[in-house]
Amino acid sequence: METSLFKKAWEHLEASVVKYNGKPVGTVAARDSSPGGVNYDQVFTRDFAVSAIAFLLNGQTRIVKNFLSTAVALQSREKHFDCFKAGEGLMPASFKVDADDSGKPVLIPDFGEKAIARVAPVDSGLWWLYILRVYVRITGDRQFAKQPEFQQAIRLILELALTNRFDMYPTLFVPDGSYMIDRRMGVYGYPIDIQALFYLALRCARELLAQDDAQNTVYADAVRERLGHLTYHVRNNYWLDFDQLNAMYRYDVEKYGEDIANKFNIFPESIPEWLFEWLSDGAGYFAGNLGPGRMDFRFFSAGNLLSIIASLADSEKALAIMNLIGNRRADLIGCMPLKACYPAVSGKQWEAVTGSDRKNAPWSYHNGGAWPFLLWVLAAAGVKAGRQDDCRQALAIAEKRLENDRWPEYYDGQKSRLVGKYARYYQTWTCAGYVAACTILANPEKTAPLLFEQDEDVIGCAVRVGKQY
Ligand code: GLC
Repeated sequence: METSLFKKAWEHLEASVVKYNGKPVGTVAARDSSPGGVNYDQVFTRDFAVSAIAFLLNGQTRIVKNFLSTAVALQSREKHFDCFKAGEGLMPASFKVDADDSGKPVLIPDFGEKAIARVAPVDSGLWWLYILRVYVRITGDRQFAKQPEFQQAIRLILELALTNRFDMYPTLFVPDGSYMIDRRMGVYGYPIDIQALFYLALRCARELLAQDDAQNTVYADAVRERLGHLTYHVRNNYWLDFDQLNAMYRYDVEKYGEDIANKFNIFPESIPEWLFEWLSDGAGYFAGNLGPGRMDFRFFSAGNLLSIIASLADSEKALAIMNLIGNRRADLIGCMPLKACYPAVSGKQWEAVTGSDRKNAPWSYHNGGAWPFLLWVLAAAGVKAGRQDDCRQALAIAEKRLENDRWPEYYDGQKSRLVGKYARYYQTWTCAGYVAACTILANPEKTAPLLFEQDEDVIGCAVRVGKQY
């Protein structure tokens, strides 16, 4: 299985390793010496999640263990009320190894206070939980997660994510630019990318909270209840297939009360025309976002694929999502898998949604660009849904270009033919995503630690919620 391309990707991945006091603790985002490197020389939590999966699936567990402990040490323990400091429980978006005045190495975290546009990460703690779960599953080292500081870290993440706020949805409120799409892109609110990751992280927490710790009972109960509510809300209200689309097309609006179909007061006029043809028979997906008077009809790949991995999508919905990717291969895979979102926003809408962001020009970067790091999640979801062959085809398409193109961060164009305009070369998660996808597709049985089966206890809770609301 170890092709020369796999070996090259692996070498690039190893070359990106960052050491602290002689120990490997993470991987830089990109090894690109072109000017304006900004913070690509740092270890990003979300980017490292992909490296972690590649390492763990290939028997390299030490770097992941060190990363997990480093993140716990860096997790914010500041009180809540100073808004210029990271809130308690937040895990850094990224960190770097620097030297103090005496030349001693120190770790400098960035919670968003230095990042372009000052974006704080909602996703870091969620990714940390997932990496920890995969680590524990692969090594069998449950004691590692049972350490008091790890249990405390889990509780702090849960407190931050589960606290009641002003909204009365089970979904997690997401400010602008606070996850992989870290720029203004109209993804504020309740984007599916984060709701699926949130669900996945809660499933991890349910497994990782030590049962013999009395402090954990209240957290375990809250997690179970939230999983049930999320299942109900996302499965019923985000799902789009042809029947649902047709029902929405004929929606009544301005309805008050409990037993109404159009709960969020979505105006049929807001359904974009492209969708009527694009949503093929036998296909379906979770909409990009849902809030008062708003459904974002764009297709977001990460959220839909993560929902398959976490069993937020049941097996029927998982197949429908994979059918959509298969039927719309030209749009979503094209010359390079996989578009982060489809379609691009353009014209006046682009001006309003992105703030005329030239990096997010139509069919570029987050706005309809393709991100090869997503190959890992495509492969894992493909295995879960029994669609390995489609994923192998996607991998073969990527293989034609990645090495020649120097493992770029992303691709541009409606069919993803161009190397991204401002893409970094030797982007680590591009290499790691490829390594992980190859490993998953060569040994599907190795994928179990990445996946979750449907939790019947949670489904029971979702059914009860459905009867209530
Ligand atoms: C860009 C991406 C972000 C990623 C970072 C480092 O800012 O939008 O998702 O984590 O680069 O690769």
